[in-house]
Amino acid sequence: MTNPTIGARMSARTLMNLVGELDPARPVYEALAERIRLLILDGRIPVGTRLPSERELAAASGRSRTTIVASYQLVRDAGYLVSRQGSGSRAVLPGPGQDESDSRAIDFARAVPPPVDGLRDIFARMGERMVDALDGPGFDLVGNLSLREAIAERYTDRGLPTTADQIMVTIGGQHAISLVAHTLLGRGDIALVEAPTYPHAYDALKRAGARLITTPVTSAGWDVDRLVDALTGARPALAYLVPDFQNPTGASMPTEARARVAEAARSSGTALVIDETTADLNIDRPWDDGPFARHAKRVDATLGTGAITVGSLSKSIWGGLRMGWIRADTTVIRRLAQARPAGDLGTPQMEQLLGEQIVRAMPELLARRRALLAEHRAALVRLLGERLPQWTVPFPDGGLSLWVQLDWPGSSALTSLCDVRGLSLVAGPKFSLDGAFERHLRIPFTSPIADLERGVDLLADSWEQLTVRRTRRTAMSRMPGVV
Ligand SMILES: Cc1ncc(COP(=O)(O)O)c(C=O)c1O
Repeated sequence: MTNPTIGARMSARTLMNLVGELDPARPVYEALAERIRLLILDGRIPVGTRLPSERELAAASGRSRTTIVASYQLVRDAGYLVSRQGSGSRAVLPGPGQDESDSRAIDFARAVPPPVDGLRDIFARMGERMVDALDGPGFDLVGNLSLREAIAERYTDRGLPTTADQIMVTIGGQHAISLVAHTLLGRGDIALVEAPTYPHAYDALKRAGARLITTPVTSAGWDVDRLVDALTGARPALAYLVPDFQNPTGASMPTEARARVAEAARSSGTALVIDETTADLNIDRPWDDGPFARHAKRVDATLGTGAITVGSLSKSIWGGLRMGWIRADTTVIRRLAQARPAGDLGTPQMEQLLGEQIVRAMPELLARRRALLAEHRAALVRLLGERLPQWTVPFPDGGLSLWVQLDWPGSSALTSLCDVRGLSLVAGPKFSLDGAFERHLRIPFTSPIADLERGVDLLADSWEQLTVRRTRRTAMSRMPGVV
């Protein structure tokens, strides 16, 4: 068990707000324990936080003290709470050997595809050439000129003229988002994000001090009028959008919508942070609009066009490279380079040498990635259709996962049950800021097909068990009282 650091005390009311509605189909103590455990796991109850006493929580929640005691005991047994006489109960994360995840066989939690077919050959061919990385300091703040040129050429080829000085190489896409957020945002600035969205993006924006507002997106796409209204009404300092194969919905923004969003951002002085980490994952979308920043017009002298594009090799090639980049106007790149040393001192040369070979081989590598994703998407859609026909399963034309709609709001209960059975998943609410999306589940199709089969079996069995329990409880609650 990780030692609890001393953290803030959480009031009973704050905890109950975070917990939200409990699953009525389960015993209260169990449903409450599960919510608390997930909140700790998701970081919404930070490790070290002192939870309210059982008596306080009983009073605030209107539940009996026995219920709360039993609930805390379950969380404690799972290794997420330590209680000491006199100092209350603190949130912790289970240490090695204590978490059921140690023996976890199937990972549906991370949308992490295997190394793209062909990558081994590139690694093998690098051989002797890797010694070039030993010339000079071995790391740098903006990236090798030759790698930046290769990245810039790809943008130019895709319809967005770009020069090497508009590129900064980063340590993955997440690093890029975090650096942009910390450089451009001041404490209390408004930042607009999609709901649902990639959770570590809003984590980074929040950590940079932003006040977040949201705009909805579904598997069918954006409500563009609402997005434009949010930009022109709230005039956020920054908007973070994933317009191609959005994570988790898989939606892509049509060309006309891009032009409207770019124009609205220009008129409101909003910096658009366009995350194109997933943009190369086109399986069979019949159109390609090129980089979003094609639509951006000049905002002002400090922001330039105001469009900052984040790219990464993690999804299209392999996450283990930890290679990403930022494309922006040179003024913005210079600001980012000045700010960067506060967080890290640069990207390693070894990765950059490999990166250049990879970027130059992208068209061929992407065709292979597409073939794997097409096969896995078809397998997962078929398996879910067979085993869970009551769910609404979309068929996205790209990306890495399905944003599935469940027939009742039990996403957290399902992920908890699957977790103890060796299948890790992320519940729908993790993709929101406010605990929404209990009716949704993101299921990546990146695992080997055999794992997809076993995983869907486990999902179906667990869902059936939860549904039976729920039906029984609903029936009981409808029984007339004995008077
Ligand atoms: C939309 C999006 N952006 C960025 C990232 C982070 O990418 P990287 O592994 O390059 O840091 C992810 C990872 O899941 C993602 O889904």
